[in-house]
Amino acid sequence: MRFIDACLGRPVDTTPVWVMRQAGRYLPEYRELRAQSDFLTMCRTPELAAEATLQPMRRFDLDAAIIFSDILIPVEAMGMAVEFRPAPYFPAPITGKEDIARLVIPHPKRDLGFVLEALRQVRAALDPKKALIGFVGAPFTLAAYMVEGGGSKDFMQLKGMMHRDPAAFSDLLAKLADTIAPYLAAQIDAGANAVQLFDTWAGQLAPEDFAKFALPAARSVIERVRREGVPVIYFVNGAAPYLDVLRSSKADVLGIDFRVDLSQAIERLGRDVVVQGNLDPAVLLGPAAQIEARAAAIVEKGKAAKGHIFNLGHGINKDTDPQAMSVLVDAVHKAGAR
Ligand code: CP3
Repeated sequence: MRFIDACLGRPVDTTPVWVMRQAGRYLPEYRELRAQSDFLTMCRTPELAAEATLQPMRRFDLDAAIIFSDILIPVEAMGMAVEFRPAPYFPAPITGKEDIARLVIPHPKRDLGFVLEALRQVRAALDPKKALIGFVGAPFTLAAYMVEGGGSKDFMQLKGMMHRDPAAFSDLLAKLADTIAPYLAAQIDAGANAVQLFDTWAGQLAPEDFAKFALPAARSVIERVRREGVPVIYFVNGAAPYLDVLRSSKADVLGIDFRVDLSQAIERLGRDVVVQGNLDPAVLLGPAAQIEARAAAIVEKGKAAKGHIFNLGHGINKDTDPQAMSVLVDAVHKAGAR
């Protein structure tokens, strides 16, 4: 698989490409499927999740599929109610030690079996040359949602708890790592060829706190799921201030957001890394010629690293014209041809 070869730093015939949130609302066929069931029902029904995963694979020449689910699905299995409006909302957020003690560690097969079944169905239907990616939210990002009760502008509830009671906060991160590591391993057993940890909110932290809280929690998951030939990708949204310590995450691939110049990221990380990224999703709202030029520039920059997987620097915007995705995927494969 071209995608797996690139993740492991092996030679490839061209740069592989997939896109964060490639299964989603910018696709009319997704909106049609979604009109018949709510988002959580789609996540919990293997046939629907598998169909949503495969939709972008039929339309575009993507090198990998990512399983249709959400980072908050295992949090629900820990005993917290979650709603999607469509942004995530927790009616009863975590306020302290007692709430953390009440969280349960789910059993992947018993409590999250519907995701594993969706993975099996997708792997059976997918072209053998295309990879299937499993994923989780990294512990810090999940803790952010659980303590804030949703998104936030400044994350003061979360940071308040982190500084007031670092021991309780570390317990929360440890409980999340104990939930996520076996769940991710089960995803690999069910057919995922690679896995990604999304640390969407880690970029909110001072570098010292990133190194103290978010990074070791992610590393503890990565160390437990490492397996021969199954790459682990760690995506930190807003990674620029932490590039000097990111390698110690032990991930095979580092996902880079769009706020960093990819050449600079590679220089700071070291040329023996494998990177993923990092076109600004907003470029897809502009003209085709510009998409092609900006994609080709990133492909060229990526050639300085040991390996490069093309992606957007964050999720695709729901107002994107699917035609822009076609232009992007073809431009990457053309520019990346060796
Ligand atoms: O990438 C994919 O195509 C696979 C599916 C996927 C979803 N969420 C589906 C989804 C993945 C990998 C995620 C990860 C996820 N979920 C992240 C990490 C990625 C990132 O953006 O940084 C985060 C932070 C979440 C939490 C979440 N779930 C948010 C913020 C939202 C609202 C999105 C919005 O634009 O309003 C969701 C809901 C969600 N997750 C949707 C989808 C397709 C939209 C739900 C709908 O159809 O109404």
